[in-house]
Amino acid sequence: MKRAEIEQLLQSYKQRVEEQLPAYISNLQAPSIMKEAMLYSLQAGGKRIRPLLVLATLHAFEKDVEIGLPVACALEMLHTYSLIHDDLPSMDNDDLRRGKPTNHKVFGEAIAILAGDALLTHSFRVIAEPPSISDEVKVRLIAELAKAAGPEGMVAGQVADMQGEGKQLTLEELEYIHRNKTGKLLQYSVLAGAILANANEQQLKKLAEFALHLGLAFQIRDDILDIEGDERKIGKKVGSDVENKKVTYPSLLTMAGAKEKLRHHIEQAKTLLQQTKLNAHLLEYICELVETRDH
Ligand code: IPE
Ligand code: IPE
Ligand code: MG
Ligand code: MG
Ligand code: MG
Repeated sequence: MKRAEIEQLLQSYKQRVEEQLPAYISNLQAPSIMKEAMLYSLQAGGKRIRPLLVLATLHAFEKDVEIGLPVACALEMLHTYSLIHDDLPSMDNDDLRRGKPTNHKVFGEAIAILAGDALLTHSFRVIAEPPSISDEVKVRLIAELAKAAGPEGMVAGQVADMQGEGKQLTLEELEYIHRNKTGKLLQYSVLAGAILANANEQQLKKLAEFALHLGLAFQIRDDILDIEGDERKIGKKVGSDVENKKVTYPSLLTMAGAKEKLRHHIEQAKTLLQQTKLNAHLLEYICELVETRDH
């Protein structure tokens, strides 16, 4: 596939997700301030990498990507909740997100917490409802999402991240944080696409390994951009990690060491992807994006 063709396809997927997302919120019978707060963060922008991974994986299996839209939107909702909570004063205490004031700066802490709770809970309903997906597949998708986002996944990573503030961590401990706080949800994105495509166990295992490397790489790049990034491009404040005394890949390994690790995980991811023998042009392209992204 030509590069322009890949870019165009990913752009069209992103557009589909952005069209669908607000519809899941606007029609809710719910307090208008809460819907407003949910939509504020959802529509503030964002790369939509998790939804794109779901759809790109379906494409790799040569399936109709439309069946992945509910899961793709659910993932973006759950991810957005994690950002709203991550920015709270009791957590990273950040004022800027996706180029706009953070949710709690606009709506206050109580509504920000509740809008996050609502996005998290609603994401499971969005996967549970579509008649186009079999009950068996839906239960699996929901169980895997709970596993990736909950106490054995993202939340565990966030706890370890908070507890690690101001401490000297080993690389192993830092990798645990990154694998969980960020890696697990990116891994789930790929697995969800594969589950929807009826992948076999061997394919699932390979893709899980691939996506964990991609997820680690994604957070390493995030750590790098927290130092080298341009605030106008990344849409969040540069230097947040230093301010919060976080241990990051650059702080532990130096900037050059962090970039080397990033390259390593991208190489591993690409090798594993090739071994799947899928039609993985879009996923390969996403690997490159993750390595070189400036926002
Ligand atoms: C930011 O996620 C938080 C991390 C897990 C690193 P993204 O970099 O995907 O943020 P958006 O969705 O594009 O705003
Ligand atoms: C956030 O990691 C991970 C989650 C939101 C789960 P960071 O705290 O590094 O993310 P940013 O840099 O604020 O986006
Ligand atoms: Mg954080
Ligand atoms: Mg943060
Ligand atoms: Mg960060």
